[in-house]
Amino acid sequence: MTSKPKKKKDFISTQDWSRKDLDKLLQITKDIKAHPEKYRNTLKGKSLCMFFYNPSTRTRNSTEVAAYQLGIHPTFNSIKDAWIGYQSESVKDTAKVLSRYYDAIGIRLFPVSVNWIYKEGNRILREFAEYSDAPIINFEDDQFHPLQALTDIFSIKEKLGEPRGKKIVISWAYHSKPLPVSVPNSILLISSRFGMDVTLAHPKEYHLDENIINIAKKNANESGGSLTISNDIKESYSNADVVYVKSWGALGSYGNAKEEKQLRIPYRDIWRIKSEYLDFTDQKSIFMHCLPIRRNIVADDAVIDGKHSIVYDQAENRLYTVKALLYNLLGEID
Ligand code: CP
Repeated sequence: MTSKPKKKKDFISTQDWSRKDLDKLLQITKDIKAHPEKYRNTLKGKSLCMFFYNPSTRTRNSTEVAAYQLGIHPTFNSIKDAWIGYQSESVKDTAKVLSRYYDAIGIRLFPVSVNWIYKEGNRILREFAEYSDAPIINFEDDQFHPLQALTDIFSIKEKLGEPRGKKIVISWAYHSKPLPVSVPNSILLISSRFGMDVTLAHPKEYHLDENIINIAKKNANESGGSLTISNDIKESYSNADVVYVKSWGALGSYGNAKEEKQLRIPYRDIWRIKSEYLDFTDQKSIFMHCLPIRRNIVADDAVIDGKHSIVYDQAENRLYTVKALLYNLLGEID
């Protein structure tokens, strides 16, 4: 095993990191994207444990490729082929043992894998962090998806320049099943942190957690941004610089898919995102989605494939942000 970094730092929510440290990650991301060869094999001999309780295309593959290009050895574990902490072996034992082998541990843990006990996935990740000597990287839990959030703010900066003062609409959309709140929580927290004028648009039953809203309000006060909450989809979209679409489940029916469906059905047409809803400030304005997306259910093809859509650039940027994070956590820099 290689030497551990001097001071362990976990990446469980962007909110746990200072604005200065997030800016540093974004600066490294930019440099890695522009000069990939400068970073090749800079982390040779390091190792990364990847735990997936749930499926993934982007998070798993961007991280494996990032690790390979940096010289890190990644090991993929799924619940099918490993005793993963809390279901078969305690979190404490799993974390203590694995952190003797690995330099970092990434974990994906969705609500379905914790029986939809609210916030239990995030609690388990923080328990891993308590017992692991190696940094814990959140590959998306039931509360946060910080690698996605980092990518999202990087992509906004890349396309539009300084985020401060730009209007972002974070919009709920219809989906055929209730999805986690991790992505909306995370884009809300990071965009308010970076001084954006945030409009959170959703049907009234689809409000986010009051604690998250309160943190976002505090972020906005500190960063010079603003937060508006609206239940009117058409009004919300006016004069947007960024439209960020995501579906999520109603917290009032959390874990009860049958009950939730009754809430959702009436919104099927009005909250499917159509081209005519987009009311952008100019040609540079962007449509974002973290992917995967259900085409013509969440948003029309014309929106996803339209000239404002940056969904593939956004997905590509996952590679550079995870590289920057690994470099920051495991490299020589503080
Ligand atoms: N956006 C995202 O995290 O995608 P995956 O679920 O494919 O990893």
